[in-house]
Amino acid sequence: MASSLSFLLLSLILCYGVVQLQASHVYNHLQSTISSKISPPANEPYRTGYHFQPVKNWINDPNGPMLYKGIYHLFYQYNPNGTAWGPPVWGHSTSTDMVNWSPQPLTMQPEILANRYGSWSGSATILPGNKPAILFTGIIIPQPQNSQVQDLALPKDLNDPYLKEWYLPTKNNPVMFPTPQNQINSSSFRDPTTAWMLPDGKWRVLVGNKRATRGMALMFRSKDFVNWVQAKHPLYSYPKSGMWECPDFYPVYKNGKIMGAETSAIGSLVKHVLKASLDDTKHDIYTIGSYDTKRDAYTPDVGFMNASSLRYDYGKFYASKTFFDYSKNRRILLGWANESSTAADDVIKGWSGIHNTPRTIWLDEHNKQLIQWPISEIESLRGKPVKVPRREIKGRSTVEVTGITAVQADVSISFKIKDLTKVEKFDEKWTDPQLLCSVKGTTVKGGLGPFGLLTLASKGLEEYTAVFFRVFKAHKKFVVLMCSDQSRSSQNPTTDKTTYGTFVDVDPIAEGLSLRALIDHSVVESFGGKGKSVITARAYPTLATFKNAHVFAFNYGSSSVEITELTAWSMKKAKIA
Ligand code: FRU
Repeated sequence: MASSLSFLLLSLILCYGVVQLQASHVYNHLQSTISSKISPPANEPYRTGYHFQPVKNWINDPNGPMLYKGIYHLFYQYNPNGTAWGPPVWGHSTSTDMVNWSPQPLTMQPEILANRYGSWSGSATILPGNKPAILFTGIIIPQPQNSQVQDLALPKDLNDPYLKEWYLPTKNNPVMFPTPQNQINSSSFRDPTTAWMLPDGKWRVLVGNKRATRGMALMFRSKDFVNWVQAKHPLYSYPKSGMWECPDFYPVYKNGKIMGAETSAIGSLVKHVLKASLDDTKHDIYTIGSYDTKRDAYTPDVGFMNASSLRYDYGKFYASKTFFDYSKNRRILLGWANESSTAADDVIKGWSGIHNTPRTIWLDEHNKQLIQWPISEIESLRGKPVKVPRREIKGRSTVEVTGITAVQADVSISFKIKDLTKVEKFDEKWTDPQLLCSVKGTTVKGGLGPFGLLTLASKGLEEYTAVFFRVFKAHKKFVVLMCSDQSRSSQNPTTDKTTYGTFVDVDPIAEGLSLRALIDHSVVESFGGKGKSVITARAYPTLATFKNAHVFAFNYGSSSVEITELTAWSMKKAKIA
């Protein structure tokens, strides 16, 4: 293998010595190498209370999540040297509830030739005999294009439930690499998935890739997890979708069953989800489809995999990964929410990047889309519930939710629509919900809506992050728009205040409209329609910080709506060191 590696290095230099596009937060020339020696200030207004983030520096993708001997493991892309992206090592934290986390030693440090210049994203697989193994992307040549190979890492001590130490077996690594024969572009070959096994006894793994602008998930097979052979065809590819980062592929039970399926489950009870993180748009998109195990090929039910596909989250959520939690038979989704502040502000904060709240994920009853809900463990941080009695909320009015710490809260609200007389007509040309939300922002009065929550709001409403619905009447049905409007979230002119939006596939008349917002200093994660649509927003209030933050229910439409349920909880601080 040593000689094949030198051959590989040589052929990469000879064949691929051209500058290629790479992940857009990965800039060789802008790397942060100055360590934040100073720990972030104690009273830092944007540090979150119950979202995962390390004490300092830059983080991105969640890596290798798994449950091992009763301990949850979370690894993540980490730059120990600064608040901007730089050659990553893996941070590592462990937990018994995915809410409180203890730090473990950094791992996947530059160790051998096969990860000399960085350890990029990867996934864990539990091999027979309860033996975890990690496949991840190693960088073997940094300039000019971060040449990528796939490496295998194993725990040093299987008796240690914290799996503190990992090593890269020298004689085997890298286990997958570009060659002149396979014609793989070495600057676009990364992020191996968790492996699954078919009845033929072979493991399968996907690696993100593109050929020109065609994005794809390459497949490799192995009997022993060490020797990998590339399949003739990718599992799936799609024209003009660009580089697929962090692919994910997993089964979900049909017909609205919340129970999760083990990654190797196949058969008539399940459908499969293929997800890609599109480097071009920085969106995590997915399709639901069928996995034909005879042909070893995937066919999405709706035949596209590009910017118009379904998304896990219509705000800040990228490079996500799922894993099967066998202790509770559920599939958990983890994602990265990057900052909307400038790199200069990140240096002042001393950190950049948080992870979204872990979500349980399952297929809806019509097998059309995924449903997501914050893991129930997060509720252990709730204080006493504050309930607002059922009431009508007239147009142009707000109702403050008092008695909670609004800067760190969990708020759940449901609306019933009673008066349809003023509902506006839906224009079939409105195909872009995000654009529609930007045009029809919080202050634009509609027939039915906007109504929802003003979070991270200052007392006098100079500042707020608004999450709301608007309801329209289309030809045969009602259309529900869900928006997260950050345009008034901060007086700081330099933060990104893009408005986010999506349609929610609910019948608002029959089902009502529900919204749950997880508010945490600089992040608002909003779950609409009982988890059918999710939007994560980052916000950096200048007035609405700490005790000066408020939360209001509001209705700025002309028709009144009824609040059928409003429960709010202060959230305690999680132990995340
Ligand atoms: C996604 C990504 C991955 C890569 C890692 C590098 O955010 O670009 O494709 O492995 O980040 O940190």
